[in-house]
Order: sequence, then structure tokens, then C-alpha cells
Amino acid sequence: MEFAIDVENLTRVFEGKTRALDGVNLRIESGKIFALIGPNGAGKTTLMRILTTQIEPTSGEAHVLGLDVVKHGAEIRKLIGYIPQEMSVWTDISGYENLLIYAKIYDMASRERRRVINDALKDMGLIEFKDNLVRTYSGGMIRRLEIACAMLIKPQILFLDEPTIGLDPSARNAVWEKLVSFKSEYSSTVFFNTHYMDEADLYSDEIAIINRGKIVTMGTAEALKHCVGGEIIRLSMEGNSVSEDFLEKVRKLNVANEVVVNDLEVDIGVGDAETALPQVMEVLRTGHVSVKKISLTKPSLDDVFVKYAGTRLESIGTIREVKEVRDRIRR
Ligand SMILES: Nc1ncnc2c1ncn2[C@@H]1O[C@H](COP(=O)(O)OP(=O)(O)O)[C@@H](O)[C@H]1O
Ligand SMILES: [Mg+2]
Repeated sequence: MEFAIDVENLTRVFEGKTRALDGVNLRIESGKIFALIGPNGAGKTTLMRILTTQIEPTSGEAHVLGLDVVKHGAEIRKLIGYIPQEMSVWTDISGYENLLIYAKIYDMASRERRRVINDALKDMGLIEFKDNLVRTYSGGMIRRLEIACAMLIKPQILFLDEPTIGLDPSARNAVWEKLVSFKSEYSSTVFFNTHYMDEADLYSDEIAIINRGKIVTMGTAEALKHCVGGEIIRLSMEGNSVSEDFLEKVRKLNVANEVVVNDLEVDIGVGDAETALPQVMEVLRTGHVSVKKISLTKPSLDDVFVKYAGTRLESIGTIREVKEVRDRIRR
């Protein structure tokens, strides 16, 4: 089968010393939403710039839609859309005028332009604001305008570098709602970089975690979280103490890996809460023990990251990162 993206042993070294990518292997099926997550400086943007044919690898190979990124850059660029981390629209003209410029760059027939542009503006929820200057748009609206620009050519793969960086949660949701409908309408593949774990968890079909230029793990969010193991059943007990007899019975359960008591809260570490819960309930019932509340905690992608990368992924420094990228572009 042909993969939308197929990367083999890819390495990129900057200035003879910074190993931004260090032997990356990656295969992404068509029609999927793929998230590459990792901390600042992990190599996400470098990989995306190689896949979008802006820079070349130092060694290794990458194919996009079956085409070699080094040999077939021009063909690849006709088939993909790319929204960089930094802003890619002009702020001193209207949303409509931005799209018109892109339509001309893409060589769209003049009689089609107005209809296609208006459709794109409608799809992205911007039609009412089409004649307003982009400088009056919110961050989320700007991102949606950028997606509209990239959509004009109905790309087979849409690359987005940190699509929601710096946006508030409701603007992030609005951007994602549009991306998901774009993907299903055009059955495109979406490849995005992010350091927001929750976003990868919610919207991607598959995730790879990158750290220091290496892919450390890959899979669906569910599978990755499952590998970390250990869900917790937390019982908040009624009364003023926890019965020792009850704790003894819980500890004897095969499904209980660990039991931690904290005041009136009992945390039971289990492999899979869904199968362990009925057994815990049975102990509660036969011992006539009442609980105020039962809650289940599943491992998060943050826990996955800690397991594979050894540190917690921090989302600080995002503004600094954007600034650094902009400075680099200017140079
Ligand atoms: N053009 C460049 N010149 C020199 N170093 C670079 C360049 N681009 C990226 N780097 C370095 O490569 C590493 C990976 O950067 P990048 O791919 O931007 O990471 P991310 O997007 O995950 O934050 C960082 O150490 C960064 O400083
Ligand atoms: Mg980046």
C-alpha cells in the first residue's frame, strides 16, 4: 500500500552541529489526522519543512504521496497545503483579498474565483467578515482564514505547524471543528505539529511523540495511554474512617495492584478500571460499605510523554518560540 507520508531514517543536521532530526522513521496512511507532538526544539518544524519541500534532509529519505521530497518538490507542492507556525496572511487587506491573492497564485480561472473564495469563507465561518481588514480579526479567525487559503486547491495533505498556538480554548475548538469538516469533505490527510497534548488526544487518529529529533513512540491515543497502564479507581468514603476489614478485602483482589489510603479517599491502582470496578463494587456491597463518590482516572498523554521522554512536556515558552521562528525567517 502507498502511504500518504513515508519517512525512512531521516536526519537533518544544522550548521554541522545541531542534530534536529536523528533517524526518523514514520508512515502515515491516507485520510488520517496525524499529530506530531513534542516539546520546543524537538524537531517538529524541521520535519514539516522537509516534508513540504522547503529544506532538504542531510540523509535518509522521505516520500509524500509517493513522491520523493528531494527529487519531486514541484509536484508535491501542487498537491499539498501548508500553514506555517508564523502568520501567512496579510493583515492590511481584507480576508477576501487575501484569498484572491492565493487564488491568483494557484492560477485559478478568473470566472471561478469569486464562487470558490466565497465557499471557502463560508466553510470557515468568515463570510460576514470577508471585507474587514485582517488586522481586525481575532487569532482564531486568522487561523481559519489561513485554512481557507490552503483549502483553495483542495490539497491531498494539509500540513499545519502548531495550528492553535496561542489561541484560547474556544478559538481552538472553532479551528478544529473546521479542520475536521475540511478533512472529511475532501478526504484529505491532515498532519499537524503541536505541543498541546489534549489537542492531539481529541482530534488525531494517530500520534507520534518526538523528542530530541527521535520518534520515541507512535500509535492511537488510546493505545499509547494503554501502554502506560495503570488506571485508578478512587473511592470517596462516607463516615469518618475507612474500615480496615474493607481495605483488607480490597487488597486481596487480584485486580488491585496497589491500594493507597489518603484520609477518606481510597485509591485503587488497577490495570483496567472497567473490568476491575464490578469486583470493587462487590466488596463494597458485601461489606455494607457506603461511598460518597467513585471516580476513575485514566492515564493522560502527558503520562505517556513522561514514560517515553523522561520529562514532562511543558507548554511554556510558546510566545518565545513564535518569536524565534519569526526572527529566523527574517534572517
Ligand atoms: N534554520 C536553522 N538553523 C539552525 N538551527 C535550527 C534551524 N532550524 C531549527 N534549528 C534547531 O533544530 C532544533 C529543532 O528545531 P525545530 O524543528 O524548530 O523544533 P520544534 O518545531 O519541535 O520546536 C532546535 O534545536 C533548533 O534550534
Ligand atoms: Mg516548531
